[in-house]
Amino acid sequence: MHKNDEQALLREADALAAHYLHSLSTRPVYPNAGEIQALSGFDEALPDAPTDAHAMLAQLDTFGSVSTSVSTGPHYLGYVIGGVLPAAAAADRLVSVWDQCASSHATSPIAAKLEAVAGRWVLDILDLPRGSAVGFGTSATACGLSCIAAARRSLLAGQGWDLDADGLVGAPEIKVVISDKAHISLFKLLRVLGFGRKRMLIAPTDEQGRIDPKRLPALDDKTILCLQAGEVNTGAFDPFTPLIAKAKAAGAWVHVDGAFGLWARATKTHHHLTEGIEGADSWTTDGHKWLNTPYDSAMAICKDAGALAQAMNSDADYARAESHAQSNLTMEFSRRARGIPVWAVLKTLGRQGVCEMVERHCGQTQKLAEGIDGKGIKVLNKVVLNQVLCTTTGAEGVADFTTRMQAGGKLWFGTTVWNGAPAFRLSVSNWRTTDADIERAIAVLTDVFTEV
Ligand SMILES: Cc1ncc(COP(=O)(O)O)c(C=O)c1O
Repeated sequence: MHKNDEQALLREADALAAHYLHSLSTRPVYPNAGEIQALSGFDEALPDAPTDAHAMLAQLDTFGSVSTSVSTGPHYLGYVIGGVLPAAAAADRLVSVWDQCASSHATSPIAAKLEAVAGRWVLDILDLPRGSAVGFGTSATACGLSCIAAARRSLLAGQGWDLDADGLVGAPEIKVVISDKAHISLFKLLRVLGFGRKRMLIAPTDEQGRIDPKRLPALDDKTILCLQAGEVNTGAFDPFTPLIAKAKAAGAWVHVDGAFGLWARATKTHHHLTEGIEGADSWTTDGHKWLNTPYDSAMAICKDAGALAQAMNSDADYARAESHAQSNLTMEFSRRARGIPVWAVLKTLGRQGVCEMVERHCGQTQKLAEGIDGKGIKVLNKVVLNQVLCTTTGAEGVADFTTRMQAGGKLWFGTTVWNGAPAFRLSVSNWRTTDADIERAIAVLTDVFTEV
């Protein structure tokens, strides 16, 4: 492709992107059946001959843009998705053009530098032990896997067992204590690592999904205790101080899944929910949820930097890197410079901006819960963060209500099961969501009731 054409193509993509962004608050929040049906246009045979890139882009926009779930818009309250801050998207644009392999200083000096700075800033804003290793991985799932791998290797080393040399066969058993309300990704990564579900010790929880310290299974120095900051339905936090005190007294390793909830620690109003969390050994959090970076962005944080670096080491004769190089901290060997958008958000929002965004979302969540409770909807959780867990109280069940709302295209959210009963969840985690959007959401959710 000619240089001029390369630039024209990028300008064209930028123009389409700008047009998409312009329509975010007015386009239906989920594609309709016809638009989804039109995706079959992509079911083509692999082309033999090259296709013109402008034509490819036109197809992508014509059929693709309309079939996005508009999760980066202000009316999407599903899962805990977040949006993309303009500064992060802009930095990511440059990262894409730079196309760095951000494994180490040798492969990208700029990526190594900025990810080191971003890692320090993350520890600073989350007030976690300085000097911890921060690996920028693809997801909380993948980063959790790196942390738990480091935990097991480290506990085994404490038992005089060399996991790298001898593997798991015949090794002392490392137990996992985890709550029944832990996120499914924890069970997945534990399964992948070979911790059988039947052998896990389940910590009972209270009505909000918090581990009850009084009923915590016994811990010892061969135990990994998994805690969470932000239960995915209720937003609840495990009581870290008493739980971590017990774990430390027993010599256990504590891992905290804070995929979205860890950012409460950056606030003044909700910091207390994370009290004691700094005493853990490892933490995971996402950028692509509440920090509003683009996908895929997450962090594996480990107090014993060497433990993570050794567990994830991938030095080769042809590619030796510093122990703190990113290729030695997460699963990926080759990777994009996903820490740079994290740097961009922290640089442009600063401590105050992150605090303001998270606090604003928590305030909006309270308003949303108060605005809908008792109007054909019952709020089931104690709203402590950015999650509202609800059920319907009228004739229309949760499934029908949710389907009707999703089909209406004005709001999008999903269902769940809470204590065996169907429920639906609303999450406020997008920087674009304004107070007016919350008023609108209340009106949309309670519309039928208001008409009655
Ligand atoms: C509490 C919690 N932990 C872990 C995850 C998994 O995060 P990721 O999708 O980045 O792997 C999620 C995702 O929703 C979550 O809410």
